[in-house]
Amino acid sequence: SEKMRVAVVEGDGIGREVIPAAVEVLDAFGLPIEKVPLELGYGKWEKCGVAIDDNDLDVLKSCDCVLFGAITTPADPNYKSVLLTIRKELDMYANIRPIKPLPGVTGVTGKSDFDFVIVRENTEGMYSSIEELHDDVAYTKRVVSRKGSERIAKSACRLAKERRNDLTIVHKSNVLKSDTLFLNVCRETARSEGVEYSDMLVDAMAYSLMTYPERYDVVVTTNLFGDILSDMSAALIGSLGLAPSANIGDMYAFFEPVHGSGPDIAGKGIANPIAAILSMKMMLEWMGYQREAELVEEAVGKSILEKITTPDLGGTASTLEVGRAIADYVRNMLDG
Ligand code: NAD
Ligand code: IPM
Ligand code: MN
Repeated sequence: SEKMRVAVVEGDGIGREVIPAAVEVLDAFGLPIEKVPLELGYGKWEKCGVAIDDNDLDVLKSCDCVLFGAITTPADPNYKSVLLTIRKELDMYANIRPIKPLPGVTGVTGKSDFDFVIVRENTEGMYSSIEELHDDVAYTKRVVSRKGSERIAKSACRLAKERRNDLTIVHKSNVLKSDTLFLNVCRETARSEGVEYSDMLVDAMAYSLMTYPERYDVVVTTNLFGDILSDMSAALIGSLGLAPSANIGDMYAFFEPVHGSGPDIAGKGIANPIAAILSMKMMLEWMGYQREAELVEEAVGKSILEKITTPDLGGTASTLEVGRAIADYVRNMLDG
């Protein structure tokens, strides 16, 4: 059969450090995968005056999926985020962000008896890009459509049925009419899909996730709320450097850590590569390499239990050392 084509985008900052580590682990399997390297982002913008061009989009579209590090997005109103361009162009509307403790690490609550997934709408909401910036006033139009809400609700329901059949719809419909539509459509979809559901206001949800994370299974929400809740939830598992994600559409998929380009630690070789490695694991699952995905998770757990960790987890290992250790565990498991 034909080889899967994976676009590999390191991006900027620690993206250039964590993706090589994830690729080393991927390579340990020797799977029939063709890697297509692609340079995008702020670094390219500084060099060429463009962060992503039509040719880059064509390359991405010619691939089956994308493994992505992180890009720097300057707060320059003339700079359009590459990530948003890609998510929209490839119509990857479901951003799947699992929050699951790894063996031997706990986060701010000290708990490890939870396992939930944030399903973040990825193409509309506050990220509509329908904006006006004037000197004294600025507008951002928050767009919530029935179609957009229905498709993300369906993704969340599909996941809930594979898991514990428990959906939490997170919104701010006490203030935002757009969220009244989101809530209504999510409820209708859950009913017709036969999924058990409840709903929470986003502010109360932030508190509840930090206090009772074990109560949640699948959490579906709009774009910006999902963005904020996912970084917050990474504090529950001990580091932003441990949280992976997948952006899934009907045609393409895109795998990236939840974190950004880490300008404060970039170039030091100390970024935790595990979020990128677990994003690569989600890619393997998406490709149907279930067993390989399980081995990656096992190898990651082993590296932590053996205390081969980066400074965010209290260790002294480098990004490369952690990646190499995980790749070695994989190779040993494949031999043994
Ligand atoms: P960030 O996620 O890059 O960093 C937040 C904090 O977490 C920093 O202290 C950083 O050192 C730490 N951290 C992040 N990843 C880590 C890792 N793997 N190991 C150890 N520590 C880690 O967020 P930021 O600093 O607010 O944003 C930096 C840039 O990244 C911005 O330009 C932002 O727009 C961009 N960004 C890009 C993406 C993406 O490409 N997917 C995601 C988020 C932010
Ligand atoms: C993320 C990031 C992006 C977002 C930024 C970089 C545009 O924070 O993937 O969570 O807000 O979606
Ligand atoms: Mn984010």
